[in-house]
Amino acid sequence: MRQAGRYLPEYQAIRREMSFLELCHTPEKAAEVSIQPLDILGVDGVIVFCDILVPLEAMGMDLRFETGKGPVLSDPIRTGSDVKRLKAYDANVETGYLPAAIRMLVNEVGHRAPIIGFAGAPYTLACYAIEGQTSRHYGSTKQFMMADPVGFEALLTRLVDAVADLLTAQIEAGASMVQLFDTWAGDLMPDQYRQWALPFAQRVIERVRRPGVPVVYFLNGVAGKLADVNQAGADVLGIDWRIGLDDVRSIVGNNAVLQGNLDPCTLYAPEEVIDQRVQAVLDANGTGPHVFNLGHGILPTIPVKHAQHLVSAVKRLSVKNPDV
Ligand code: CP3
Repeated sequence: MRQAGRYLPEYQAIRREMSFLELCHTPEKAAEVSIQPLDILGVDGVIVFCDILVPLEAMGMDLRFETGKGPVLSDPIRTGSDVKRLKAYDANVETGYLPAAIRMLVNEVGHRAPIIGFAGAPYTLACYAIEGQTSRHYGSTKQFMMADPVGFEALLTRLVDAVADLLTAQIEAGASMVQLFDTWAGDLMPDQYRQWALPFAQRVIERVRRPGVPVVYFLNGVAGKLADVNQAGADVLGIDWRIGLDDVRSIVGNNAVLQGNLDPCTLYAPEEVIDQRVQAVLDANGTGPHVFNLGHGILPTIPVKHAQHLVSAVKRLSVKNPDV
């Protein structure tokens, strides 16, 4: 999940000097911001600082981040002929700043913590390419899907190539694991998920998988799709907070590696409540392999002290299993 960002004064200081995209495009600065949570919170891994939308920008879309609105793509893709507008993309060329930031991170902190790469899954990137912004109902996406399935599939196929290339570039640069964010696929009907999200995520995972580099697959709103998500071929399933890990385990079993799933808003609560909630997540998970995490990204108004407390509470309360 997002762990760097606007809740940290140290991040805000750098953001006063440059825009969010300039920061993504400048490997030295992106590496600096990536390390902040390691130093300030004491987390166990470093997520490279970037955004899932950079491949769309690299393929020629006009990407901007507007304060209060989030990402905006002013020239959305809504027809089969729009798909042809997307330019050829080589992750090491047009988005070379991302593997460059990873190489710097490996040099600077690779001995202290694993470096985690990431990308958006094809369906979720398609949502942004089609809607042009974060949406509540994904109406334009579903309209394109229903009205022109051939054009829609052409878009997803382009995105499989782009995402697989981007994750491979990050692994080759030294990322120890990678996360694939299918943030908006939880919104689909189950059979639509099986048709339009799962197979394209599977293809990406097949292409990037290699020994020793785990792949994490995350859906926001995963409840109801767990049996399918478990078929994606990922090593770790990222779980949001809307379902208990005990219910997840009753579907995916005790051997699946789960990541999650504390509600980020828990970090507004006092320290003793945070402790109780951490314990509740650990208890719900039981004895199966588990990576403690939030169930979605950290929010800009979370007090840093509470995020620090969370990390120390997890370290204090979790029993390490030497076999995992
Ligand atoms: O340190 C880290 O955690 C890595 C950085 C990271 C960002 N985005 C930085 C960011 C990661 C892993 C992402 C992934 C991402 N981006 C996702 C998938 C994960 C998820 O949250 O579901 C999605 C859907 C996006 C698209 C995106 N980017 C949105 C919706 C927004 C606006 C969010 C908001 O709260 O306004 C962004 C902007 C963004 N990406 C910020 C950061 C730190 C805020 C930018 C700023 O103003 O400084």
